[in-house]
Amino acid sequence: MKITPGASAARFESAWSELAGIGRDRRSGGYSRHVFDDADLLLREWFTDQATRRGLDVETDRNGNLWAWWGPPAPGAVVTGSHLDSVPGGGAFDGPLGVVSALLAVDELRSRRVAPSRPIAVVCFAEEEGGRFGLPCLGSRLLTGAADPDRVRRLHDANSLSLADAAKHAGVDPRYLGPDAERLALIGCFVELHVEQGRLLHAADPQAVLGVGSRIVAHGRWRLTVSGEGNHAGTTAPADRHDPMVPAAAGVLAARRVLTGHPGAVATVGRIRPIPGGTNVIASAVEVWLDVRHGSAADTAELVDEIAAELREEAAMEGCTVTVHRESMSEQVTLDVGMAMQLADLLSAPVIPTGAGHDAGILAAEVPSAMMFVRNPSGVSHAPGEHADTADCLAGVDGLAEVLAALAG
Ligand code: GLV
Ligand code: MN
Ligand code: MN
Repeated sequence: MKITPGASAARFESAWSELAGIGRDRRSGGYSRHVFDDADLLLREWFTDQATRRGLDVETDRNGNLWAWWGPPAPGAVVTGSHLDSVPGGGAFDGPLGVVSALLAVDELRSRRVAPSRPIAVVCFAEEEGGRFGLPCLGSRLLTGAADPDRVRRLHDANSLSLADAAKHAGVDPRYLGPDAERLALIGCFVELHVEQGRLLHAADPQAVLGVGSRIVAHGRWRLTVSGEGNHAGTTAPADRHDPMVPAAAGVLAARRVLTGHPGAVATVGRIRPIPGGTNVIASAVEVWLDVRHGSAADTAELVDEIAAELREEAAMEGCTVTVHRESMSEQVTLDVGMAMQLADLLSAPVIPTGAGHDAGILAAEVPSAMMFVRNPSGVSHAPGEHADTADCLAGVDGLAEVLAALAG
């Protein structure tokens, strides 16, 4: 299949420019789009409008995921799409590229007069990044039963607003959050197209524009709370301090140090919150959010234990205490091997693993799931510098159309 050059490029540029201003910080150029916030509501409107204009039937499921159907929903559907939310200050491509490409792939199939024998659905999963309520892949976890809806309803954002209240505000009834077996039974297979996040594609083949996913590493999030004694920054002598920031800093350094001897492992402290947080205040507690990724959930937990042990030692010296709370964990996932081989063959693309989490990794436990990656020469992601050239994005649309045609027969 060869893409209709002008039409698809124009549609891509038009969709991209409509999205460009939503949730963007003008100074940094980064995007902050979080589930059920104003930007997310605009994105949902945008998606509904795009899908409706194409004559697709749009619905919001019980978990706040959006679905646009080409053909009446029926078992065996070929589902594609991604997410529209972002990390705080993220890039333009992580998530939206998969959604825009899915819509454009439908256009491409239609312009080729392909009549799929199975329904095709374009999906936007809610809160993939966990940027607002902390639990990544929230919409797909709820759909598949991998998240407890009672726990999810009680999650709070940084302003102490519960997920249940935020959902209500967006018109999603929180009483119905939870496993959706009926919907899951419609999904024959899932393909998520995504910007590559890293340089594994380049390493596999410097000429390759597209890649196919093999597996997703194990990854988890932990909240380490160091508790000490709040006090005055000017009047408290060093010997009298129980300052939780000091062991917290040692914990950050430990998260780097423990990686020695664990090739492939990564650990990141991307968020730290002193409580109450004042320049002239010794904090009474510090929350340290830790993201650790490694070969398996057990390997990952071992690293966290090592980091927590160092943190506890430092905390004891400062007269502070530490609690460790696991916020989420995703075991390593092998994507569907048969689909990966089929896609690699169709696209003549290398097969690569990824260190990033994706809804496809959650869906993979229930339905055959695959991923396609569009090259991102710098490898930068979760930051404003994330980029894929338009020509490469169009090759992604072309490739996705080809894949959908093959899967939907
Ligand atoms: C999401 O992109 C993640 O890997 O955390
Ligand atoms: Mn991401
Ligand atoms: Mn993503």
